[in-house]
Amino acid sequence: MAAPKTTTWALEEHTKAKHAILRRYLDAWIPILSHGGFPRIVFVDGFAGPGVYDDGSDGSPIIALNAYLAQAATISAEVDFHFVEVDPGRAALLKQAVDALLASAPRCPRLKVHIHSGRGFDEVYNADIHPTLGQGVPVFAFIDPFGWRISMATIARIMALGSSEVLVNFMFEEINRFLAHPDQVENFDTLFGGDEWRRIARMEGQARRNALRDHFAERLKSVGRATHVRHFEMRNRRSQVDYYLFFATRKRKGLVKMKEAMWKADPAGAFTFSDATDPNQMVMFGAEADLARLEREICGRFAGEACLVSEIETFVIDETAFRDSHYKGVLKAMEKAGRLEVVAAKPRRRRGTFPEGTVVRPSPAYGGAIPLRLAL
Ligand SMILES: C[S@@+](CC[C@H](N)C(=O)[O-])C[C@H]1O[C@@H](n2cnc3c(N)ncnc32)[C@H](O)[C@@H]1O
Repeated sequence: MAAPKTTTWALEEHTKAKHAILRRYLDAWIPILSHGGFPRIVFVDGFAGPGVYDDGSDGSPIIALNAYLAQAATISAEVDFHFVEVDPGRAALLKQAVDALLASAPRCPRLKVHIHSGRGFDEVYNADIHPTLGQGVPVFAFIDPFGWRISMATIARIMALGSSEVLVNFMFEEINRFLAHPDQVENFDTLFGGDEWRRIARMEGQARRNALRDHFAERLKSVGRATHVRHFEMRNRRSQVDYYLFFATRKRKGLVKMKEAMWKADPAGAFTFSDATDPNQMVMFGAEADLARLEREICGRFAGEACLVSEIETFVIDETAFRDSHYKGVLKAMEKAGRLEVVAAKPRRRRGTFPEGTVVRPSPAYGGAIPLRLAL
């Protein structure tokens, strides 16, 4: 979508999916961190928008504040919300929306909302927000621009805070379209934090698209020093990839919770949402997880090898799109079908259960031909 010139704009279907992921993640993030002993936690919406869409739906800052206000338990940490919106008209509307929400909410003395207007995210974060944060303060930054004026150096500064995480809207379609544009070289150097992307600009077709997506993930790891990076693909009405929502963290628990949020947005686990109306074109809401795929991935890594079940769990969480809740069901079905040997286990282990310490050997024979689909 071209960047709108109006103060508000229409809410698109894939924006709803993006908001659903943000809300579900914050529902988990706020209590985990605030009850985890952090005296202060910080949410930054770097490209906040006006807080409202044409049809009156909430924008991301209001969604984030609602996640805080809806917490049933008392939040003992001080929670700072920083909303950065360069456009003064949009920022004014956002202020109205925030004021209206807080006027109807119970008094929250430990909640602080800051709206920054007239300057861009990089400048505000580096000059006004970052210097106020101590090393241990966890930040969750939502970085959701219309284009690609993002700086990997700023992302790296946020991530350097240790417990911090970012959710970045990587405007894939436009970035891919403009990658070879001579006027954009510096901006892309800033986005990727280096010039290695230039070799991708000389590539073509699907190889180029995959390389571009994978390069951004690699930069989040190498420059941003994230240990876990996952993306969610958003497709447009023609079912072409419009943008990727990238999540980067150094905490496995963050990854587990973000996967939960993404699985809820796409129960089929392809981590894709499409605005296309033809249900045959793409995996849509309401489908089931393709657990045959998970079995193939487990076999691809461990077939023929005796391994601890905990090693399979680590592999599933860190290196596949699947959740920890999926793999035991897969192991159970594999054992039942004779495709998994239990090498060592507690004496009275029940068949189909895999308590800690269980050693298994997945069969090398399985090629994925037998469908294995379990409802979530
Ligand atoms: C995609 S919209 C944000 C939508 C919002 N996050 C939501 O989900 O409801 C991007 C917003 O960033 C603002 N913007 C553009 N450049 C900016 C910058 N450098 N810093 C902060 N905001 C910027 C635009 O005015 C626009 O309102």
